[in-house]
Amino acid sequence: MNMIKTRIVRPSITFDELEPAIKDIITSGIYTNGKAVSTFTRQILKITKSKFCFPTTSATTALWTCLKILKITSGDEVLISDFSYPATANVVEDLGAKPVFVDVNLETFNMLPEDLLCKISSKTKAVIFVDALGNPSGLHEIKKICKKHNIVLIEDAACAIGSSEKNKMCGSISDLTCFSFHPRKIICAGEGGAITTNDKNFAKQLGLKLTHGLKKDKNGNVDFIDYGYNFRMSEMQAALASIQLKKLDKIIDKRSNILNIYKEYLLPLGFKNQKISNLVKFNVQSATFIVTKNISAKK
Ligand SMILES: Cc1ncc(COP(=O)(O)O)c(C=O)c1O
Repeated sequence: MNMIKTRIVRPSITFDELEPAIKDIITSGIYTNGKAVSTFTRQILKITKSKFCFPTTSATTALWTCLKILKITSGDEVLISDFSYPATANVVEDLGAKPVFVDVNLETFNMLPEDLLCKISSKTKAVIFVDALGNPSGLHEIKKICKKHNIVLIEDAACAIGSSEKNKMCGSISDLTCFSFHPRKIICAGEGGAITTNDKNFAKQLGLKLTHGLKKDKNGNVDFIDYGYNFRMSEMQAALASIQLKKLDKIIDKRSNILNIYKEYLLPLGFKNQKISNLVKFNVQSATFIVTKNISAKK
């Protein structure tokens, strides 16, 4: 049998679109913390309708930093969706805490509220809800439970830029939201991520942790008041993502049309597509179909 190799994803960008931005960076000589990162930050704030945004090197470092500012450590438990990419559990393990897996709904692939309730204990320090393949279905219900039990809700929205539930954008629903701009995502920065929050205190801590604890006063004097890391996005990465973010709605529309074509052909054969709640606007990060038992390979 001849193998047909198909690229799983192709970022929506051309060299012509990128060239002026690269020229700008090289001419200015500013490769970090410059215009491109500011523009990218403003775009994410506008898209997600959140109050604070911190561009990062990846969703993994974003998630890790969120756990770090919550002071998650050994003996703590973090409840996470049991359908995800390993990064979600890895960051918990790395801090010596225990990832406790919560079952997911087999149609939406998202965390089941009833299983979350069973897994909450006195050791629970945070919940990480994963927008499976970009789908935030059920997020508000999980938020309600976290609020009732006074548990911080982190959203692993690695795949979910541009998605929303109940007319609220991913990025402004949970206490802390982490996005990815890896090339497999609908917006590609080469590598990259972002954290959004509406909480002033979290924002203050994130700003410090992502920049080696550096604090600038009103007069521009700097001091290192805490320990921290450098998980910041560079100008080149921000410029790359920024150009695509301008076209986010068009990118999503195009992907929705393609998803509809897949549905038109696959549903009559018995495939079931990932269930997206009708309260959700889905960014179509992936077109995912369940192969049901009545499907034969010979069909
Ligand atoms: C659900 C989820 N979380 C986290 C990550 C990690 O993202 P990054 O590669 O930006 O660290 C991914 C990447 O595929 C993911 O799908």
